[in-house]
Amino acid sequence: MTLPEHVAIIMDGNGRWAQKRMLPRLAGHRAGMKRMIALADHIFSCDIRCLTIFALSTENLGRPREELEGLFDLFREYFTEYAAKLGKGGVSLRVIGDLSLVPEDVARLAKESERETAGHDRFLLLAIGYGGRRDIVRAANAVVASGCALTEDSLASALSTGGMPALDLLIRTGKEQRLSNFLLFEAAYAELVFSEKLFPDFTDKDFDRALRGYAGRDRRFGKIHSDQPCKR
Ligand code: IPE
Ligand code: IPE
Ligand code: MG
Repeated sequence: MTLPEHVAIIMDGNGRWAQKRMLPRLAGHRAGMKRMIALADHIFSCDIRCLTIFALSTENLGRPREELEGLFDLFREYFTEYAAKLGKGGVSLRVIGDLSLVPEDVARLAKESERETAGHDRFLLLAIGYGGRRDIVRAANAVVASGCALTEDSLASALSTGGMPALDLLIRTGKEQRLSNFLLFEAAYAELVFSEKLFPDFTDKDFDRALRGYAGRDRRFGKIHSDQPCKR
């Protein structure tokens, strides 16, 4: 089976998952984090080299303070209690996004986790305070400031996903069918999967189904198959 090298997941639907159970939204975020930790383990056990998870967008920073504080508490917990386990499992954690937009101690914990887990050849990129447009503008400015020519390649390398394999498969849970400012440049030729499941309900088996679907996709990258004659 053809496997993707780089999978990205938009973990959406935590709030609705909680609402359905008459629970506060934060209970949904907690269930989402628990599912994310287990799903990441499963995904790396499937021999996938790079996983990018969309956990908090620049636009999400406009949510009510109470929800944001709860989310930052969950990130604190993730960095202090789970990140080290990733490193022990041979996975390096990288946080992508603008860390100047999150509380200082969360940014510091993120950087510590990156240092603690560095040096492996498999990667979990956690997108926090991330916006695709913002990342493109930052990367373009960085290329220009370095004096290099701004090309598709130089821009791709300067993005926060620079150095990672090309994005092959992007999965969004939670019913919506949009990118919501995630990996706008990188998703150019990614295969897209939209799941009806709210993220805390998205199982390892649902992921396996997406993988099988991916293996069956005909990725032409704008070309045509050489066995198709083109007679005039
Ligand atoms: C995704 O779940 C997690 C974040 C955006 C932080 P939501 O919080 O967007 O959940 P819904 O879409 O309201 O159900
Ligand atoms: C996208 O979900 C962002 C993350 C999952 C982190 P949103 O819930 O913010 O997206 P919209 O509002 O439905 O576009
Ligand atoms: Mg949402």
